[in-house]
Amino acid sequence: MKKISLLFLILFFSFSSLITMAQDIRLPAPDKKGGKPLMQALSERKSVRSFSKSNLSQQQLSDMLWAAWGYNRPEQKMRTAPSARNTQEIDIYVALPSGVYLYEPSGHILKEISKRDVRTLTGSQDFVGGAAVNLVYVADMTRAGKKVGEKITDADLLWPNANTGFIAQNVYLYCASANLGTVVRGMIPKDKLAPALGLKAHQIIILAQTVGIPDN
Ligand SMILES: Cc1cc2nc3c(=O)[nH]c(=O)nc-3n(C[C@H](O)[C@H](O)[C@H](O)COP(=O)(O)O)c2cc1C
Repeated sequence: MKKISLLFLILFFSFSSLITMAQDIRLPAPDKKGGKPLMQALSERKSVRSFSKSNLSQQQLSDMLWAAWGYNRPEQKMRTAPSARNTQEIDIYVALPSGVYLYEPSGHILKEISKRDVRTLTGSQDFVGGAAVNLVYVADMTRAGKKVGEKITDADLLWPNANTGFIAQNVYLYCASANLGTVVRGMIPKDKLAPALGLKAHQIIILAQTVGIPDN
């Protein structure tokens, strides 16, 4: 009897650890050779607000995130976009139908944050919830010199705002180059989104950006 109970316990704990295991996504290597010439991508860059329900391929997700804010000089941990004083305080949270992920440039991985589909919470416009991907740009102010618990003022957000602009433009150019649609967005219900992403007080939502297959 004791043996059966022990076996039951072992099976129970192995099973529950399996179902709670985080499902990180290891992205394929980005294709750094493809795409349209820069001047053509600039000619085609625009905001798109109508998307099909189709998902991006893993390769498109990989290429888009690398273009956005990946390491282009990995040995020095330097990125595709500049940041003031190289603080690199912006994190990209990626809202997909399967859950929320944090983009980690080392390893080019999406770390699972939660299995909840929070796409509708990333914006107040109708198209947001049905699009394939919503990126949320979050400034971790401890990397920009603030202490945990310290007050964050609008002036403190000047450089995080600027730094986010460069990343968002990289996504615009990638999307133009890959025939995808995108729009950067400031209209965000931050009070609902921040807890859904599990953010702490020193993590500030700057902007969001929808990416998907254009519906036209
Ligand atoms: C900081 C910033 C915030 C924006 N916020 C929104 C937004 O909340 N919703 C939206 O649909 N577009 C938003 N946009 C996109 C602009 O409306 C768009 O870039 C502008 O109309 C010019 O169009 P274009 O991008 O096609 O050139 C934002 C753009 C920027 C730079």
